[in-house]
Amino acid sequence: MEKIKPEDYSAIVIFTGAGMSAESGIPTYRGKGGIWQEYDWQQYACQLAFDLDPKKVLAFHELRRKSVLDCQPHAGHEFISSLERSHAQVTIVTQNIDGMHQRAGSHNVIELHGSLWRLRCPSHGKREDIGGTFESYRCEYCQAWLRPDITWFEDPIDQEVFFQAEQAIGQAELFVSIGTSGNVWPAAGLAELAGQSGCFCVEVNPELSGMSGLYDQVFQEPASKLSELFI
Ligand code: APR
Repeated sequence: MEKIKPEDYSAIVIFTGAGMSAESGIPTYRGKGGIWQEYDWQQYACQLAFDLDPKKVLAFHELRRKSVLDCQPHAGHEFISSLERSHAQVTIVTQNIDGMHQRAGSHNVIELHGSLWRLRCPSHGKREDIGGTFESYRCEYCQAWLRPDITWFEDPIDQEVFFQAEQAIGQAELFVSIGTSGNVWPAAGLAELAGQSGCFCVEVNPELSGMSGLYDQVFQEPASKLSELFI
């Protein structure tokens, strides 16, 4: 299988899903050992659950943050971050909320589904960075519970963030999707958009996904082997 030469492409989008972090020890959402097999999203990952029992939902997210902190970025995350340093235009569009790309040193990261590391007030839109400014789970203006700043089930996606991703893909010549089942929309539509806008599209996933047919090249490899797929 022919390896990818980054310098052949003026701009690159790396599109990642839960499989990107699997080898760091962070469980994926679907399939064997997936988070939604162990936890019912209707109790932990939607606005209704939060409205009914904010403390339970916040405790679940606290647990997730702790388990993510116990994990480290792997060789695949490191490779993406080194690609960003060596190539003029690399954008990472991630569905992941775990912050692992940033921990590996990546800067140009578009977080489609938000971040585990932020909270927000539904009324004031104010965002708290848990690492930096977080003091309380209550909004300082209205005392409402701050909710995790992530896209839960039944939440609309952040249109501004999605638009940034579409723009990056519109400018890209290479689109590399890593570790996503392609089951969750509208994020899943970005692979189709990349093809339509003329990108050479590559998939990296040990399993074929529902979207594999859309790609010009499919590497059935784990994310940690990413560097071996590039020259
Ligand atoms: N390397 C690459 N891919 C892997 C690896 C690995 N080591 N291990 C597993 N995978 C692949 C699986 O084969 C699967 O196709 O990762 C994919 C994970 O799929 P999902 O669990 O559905 O994750 P994702 O596509 O990111 O889900 C999208 O759903 O509930 C949500 O909001 C959440 O952002 C998430 C969205």
